Amino acid sequence: MDSSDDEPGVTGVMVIEPMGNAGPFLLEAAARLGIRLYAATDKRVHAGYEPWLTAGLAGVCLTELADTERALDDMAEYCRAHRITGVAVCWELLTPLAALLAARLGLPGNDPALAGAARNKIAMAEAFRAAGVPAPAHAVVGTSEEAHQVAASGRLGWPLVVKPAEQGGSWGVSVVAGPDGLDTAVAAAGRFTRAEPHGLPLDPRVLLQHYVPGEEFSADTVVHDGVPYPLPVVRKDTTAGRYRVETGHSCPAGLDARTVRAIQDTAARAALAVGVRNGIAHTEVKLTPRGEPVVIETGARLPGDNICEIVEAATGVSEAAAYLRAVTGRAPDTGPTRAAGAALRFVLPERGGVLEYVVIPEVPGTQSRLHIRPGEQVPEPADSSGRVGHVLACAASVDEARRLADRAVADTRVKVS
Ligand SMILES: Nc1ncnc2c1ncn2[C@@H]1O[C@H](COP(=O)(O)OP(=O)(O)OP(=O)(O)O)[C@@H](O)[C@H]1O
Ligand SMILES: [Mg+2]
Repeated sequence: MDSSDDEPGVTGVMVIEPMGNAGPFLLEAAARLGIRLYAATDKRVHAGYEPWLTAGLAGVCLTELADTERALDDMAEYCRAHRITGVAVCWELLTPLAALLAARLGLPGNDPALAGAARNKIAMAEAFRAAGVPAPAHAVVGTSEEAHQVAASGRLGWPLVVKPAEQGGSWGVSVVAGPDGLDTAVAAAGRFTRAEPHGLPLDPRVLLQHYVPGEEFSADTVVHDGVPYPLPVVRKDTTAGRYRVETGHSCPAGLDARTVRAIQDTAARAALAVGVRNGIAHTEVKLTPRGEPVVIETGARLPGDNICEIVEAATGVSEAAAYLRAVTGRAPDTGPTRAAGAALRFVLPERGGVLEYVVIPEVPGTQSRLHIRPGEQVPEPADSSGRVGHVLACAASVDEARRLADRAVADTRVKVS
């Protein structure tokens, strides 16, 4: 047992921006582990914190997260003053900052020299190539003309995937069938220069990728002292057209044990390739029709989309607790304690507009939550911001959970005008 286990209640962890999907799971796991959580955020973002978040924090370090040097100085001083012994992060774009802070304080963290590759998909592609992680062939372009030249070379084939170097939530990601769609896709991917709500500057370059066919999964990996511990594999359902919007997730993934292990091993290699050493990685993997895992992307953070909740409901494994243990220098607990099933389905209207109403039926075994309220604007369903709500189902098997969630979503009435 180490010193932090000897002294329950004295461990403090700094979470760089806990506002986000994984926030509630971190708070709940910290309470269970006897860890005090502190936040680092911007004044303006902090003003929008909801009461559950403020109530769960032991303190807040107000800084400017877009100003790396200032943020590091402010956070390091705050961490020293509060005897903080671990650094965690919820937002992918802030993961390099977390690695730099942990290194500055001499705390368990990720390799700062590689951390940029967990945020920038161009650096990630290079890190994957260097480490021999299977990933799609790619090219980097700055303009539409360059994209046409790459496409005409035939090197990446059709369809092509066009995406921003730095973004999330499928924003600006398009699957393009032929040259006609290329200009629009490059413009959509290149339109991001800053990420809200922190105003972080973004790399405006655009990535073209070979399209990897097959089913899609996510596999998270907690890493302690450079040793990867695989977490349960989750099946991901997406739309099939130009925009690949996630429609749901389910766990277990419905694969044989050998395929699960192959996906977990590939995800672990991806996590290590981008410098995850004490932390967690959320990796998205496609399984080709030949049964080979290919990594689409990885991020040095907990998953979004309530995947923490799905995994815990299905297997009893708390990803947030495993992550907090890893960033405080303790071996994570990743053994399943339950063999059930869980499935999440998003409520996605067919078009954008003003949400008039949404009625999700109460189906036993399911819980639902709204993301957008009546009267609010629903964006076009081109990325994950178009979700009106979700249904989460838990059952004895994943097939039953999927059936329950599908039934609730099929019977949902939603009107957008
Ligand atoms: N090279 C590819 N081949 C096949 N499908 C792809 C490829 N790249 C992306 N996709 C599809 O598009 C989705 C979004 O792409 P990607 O994960 O790179 O973007 P993102 O904005 O980081 O997404 P998110 O934050 O929603 O996970 C993927 O989950 C996958 O379904
Ligand atoms: Mg993704």
